[in-house]
Amino acid sequence: MIRKNKIHRICKRAGMLFLLTGIMIAGIHAQTGRAGSGSRMHAFISTLMSKMTLEEKIGQLNLPSAGEFTTGTATNSDIGKNVKEGRVGGLFNIKGVEKIKAIQKVAVEESRMKIPMLFGMDVIHGYETTFPIPLGLSCTWNMSAIERSARIAAIEASADGISWTFSPMVDIARDPRWGRVSEGNGEDPYLGAQIAKAMIKGYQGDYSQNTNIMACVKHYALYGAAEAGRDYNTVDMSHLRMYNEYFPPYKAAVDAGVGSVMASFNVVDGIPATGNRWLLTDVLRKQWGFRGFVVTDYTGINEMTDHGMGDLQAVSALALKAGVDMDMVGEGFLKTLKQSLEEKKITLAEINAACRNVLVAKYKLGLFTDPYKYCNGQRAKTEIYTPEHRKIAREIAAESFVLLKNKGNMLPLKKGGKIALIGPLADAANNMAGTWSVATVQNRSVSVLKGLKEALGNKAEVAYAKGCNLTEDAALEERVTMFGKTLNRERDTRTPEVMKAEALEIAKRSDVIIAAMGESAEFSGESSSRTSLDIPRAQQRLLRELLKTGKPVVLVLFTGRPLTLNWEQKNIPAILNVWFGGSEAGAAIADVLFGDVNPSGKLTMTFPQNVGQIPLYYAHLNTGRPLEEGKWFQKFRSNYLDVSNEPLYPFGYGLGYAAFTYSDITLSSKSLKGAQTLKATVTLTNSGKYDGAEVVQLYIRDLVGSVSRPVKELKGFQKIWLKAGTSKTVTFQITPGDLKFYNSQLQYGWEPGAFEIMIGGNSRDVKKAQVNWVK
Ligand code: BGC
Repeated sequence: MIRKNKIHRICKRAGMLFLLTGIMIAGIHAQTGRAGSGSRMHAFISTLMSKMTLEEKIGQLNLPSAGEFTTGTATNSDIGKNVKEGRVGGLFNIKGVEKIKAIQKVAVEESRMKIPMLFGMDVIHGYETTFPIPLGLSCTWNMSAIERSARIAAIEASADGISWTFSPMVDIARDPRWGRVSEGNGEDPYLGAQIAKAMIKGYQGDYSQNTNIMACVKHYALYGAAEAGRDYNTVDMSHLRMYNEYFPPYKAAVDAGVGSVMASFNVVDGIPATGNRWLLTDVLRKQWGFRGFVVTDYTGINEMTDHGMGDLQAVSALALKAGVDMDMVGEGFLKTLKQSLEEKKITLAEINAACRNVLVAKYKLGLFTDPYKYCNGQRAKTEIYTPEHRKIAREIAAESFVLLKNKGNMLPLKKGGKIALIGPLADAANNMAGTWSVATVQNRSVSVLKGLKEALGNKAEVAYAKGCNLTEDAALEERVTMFGKTLNRERDTRTPEVMKAEALEIAKRSDVIIAAMGESAEFSGESSSRTSLDIPRAQQRLLRELLKTGKPVVLVLFTGRPLTLNWEQKNIPAILNVWFGGSEAGAAIADVLFGDVNPSGKLTMTFPQNVGQIPLYYAHLNTGRPLEEGKWFQKFRSNYLDVSNEPLYPFGYGLGYAAFTYSDITLSSKSLKGAQTLKATVTLTNSGKYDGAEVVQLYIRDLVGSVSRPVKELKGFQKIWLKAGTSKTVTFQITPGDLKFYNSQLQYGWEPGAFEIMIGGNSRDVKKAQVNWVK
């Protein structure tokens, strides 16, 4: 806040000068084109750079935080002065078009080179209108919905001055202890790649509109593979696995033209990603042809000192030489690059290359043509948090929910009678948006209580009780409400007995109990790893008490990660996993609970039975001693003594109110040659009473290869809408491109032989057929 005030003061003082210098700038900018031909752009940048001092070039590589919402410890002082003196290339963590416009004015009217700035923000799953957390969004398996959510986020953010978002996060994650699984798209590289493309298209478009902002794919690379699921921890894996399982979504982002890449905090082959030349230059630029700029994560350069890579000067030089262009927050570049150049530890060419990459981004966004492209105060008033955006957010939220259990078709509920709504997340508007929703007004989201009341009007009676606090461990609750303090995410000070008694009283008088429980928003996200994935004990205890009333119980489960739900799966008749659904979460929950919307979400991350099974993912290798089908333990086979190898809910799983059945697979041919196309067809029937959507999933297994291949890999999916009682044939066209993988020499290609084709409604329950494919 101190920094914000300073900026205001500087901007005020600068007010008069803006007017005069504005006229001059208009002249310069009129000569430049927006994203015109590459050679025109580079000529423009070369001319610009020829006039820049070394300090000004280094200044372009500096990205301070304005400090409105931060994740790290470093702070930056005197932003306005630094902008004026050419020491800032971009700014983030600042919200509000007027504030941004004022700083942009300092940059383009008061600094010597008048270079416009980038304004970044973590617009992760919506801006003020929030959509489900990314893990939830991925469970829609609906690429156009995901693209639309990114589009709306871009419209709103750009209306408020933002030109750059630190999204999408595409880190493959197979360890739900890691809190940041909530920010990604789950465990699968193929699905992750499709989502990366959709998000980038939604954000960037072709940069031609003032609603197109630059995306930043992160966290490159392998950030989701932290040992033991502990955030920022060591990563170590084979190159084979990197290329086949973890790289595809980053590469898809590059192929989709992502404007920027964020380096990750973790080590890769023992070298922090931020200083890893193989990763940032050889793979990213040389192998994949990336042409944008690389930014560090928050103080990523400075943290290399703690990784044991040397002092600030050494790690800053290391980062520049590795291929980093912009230094987020840590000021390592700002403070040391000049000296490193004098000492010949880096070259001017390296500084020039980084500076050019940053300027190219600004040029592509059209900021040299109009530095105020994203500073239209009128748009800020009319294009943010609109009824239309919220309507779409509601639809998408409902599509992200995953129905995990529905014994005896208990759901949907009828709109009538007495409903007891119980749980610490039932009346928690400020928890609905979920992690990384920094721009939104949290309290404005629709809570479950509000959603139910609005949906039911006077058709039914809704009684509410909190029932218990989130956890019985006050210190843990303190940690999981760390950022929520200003949002009244306060612990209830009544005794557990009083709270329980109130809940049971209501429960006993009801016809049905809706228990809104699970994790709060800050249980997941950055720096929120857990070693137990149970619903916190206080809530589980209350659930048991509620069950004892003999009333039907629906668990509306909030979570940012797969939880261990063995007890709940055994005992609770209906479980609807709603993640954190965003602005309209409560309304969407009511839509699904009462059957106005038929749930169609499917899990994109395996739910384990217990923490000991982790990492557990469907696309594993077979091992030399796999279990025989149908067995859950065999001596000297790959298994556990105390629990089967099966997940609780497999990847791709999710129920609906409709009942879908699959015919056997029909193949266009059983033996194929070269570039032929195989058509694999099933008939999908909706044999239930409700219209609904089903995600039909295609998996392939390469039965013999030069390296051991996964037991199945997702290779396609189609979301099919079917009226009750109707059928449809669903065909997948498979080409040799779908059979490709990286071999032990890291060559990408396919190998002839036998392939198993599998189609089904989740990764476990599939129909199978086999083909032979020769070169
Ligand atoms: C996170 C990034 C985020 C950055 C800027 C870091 O702590 O790892 O995902 O984009 O902060 O807020």
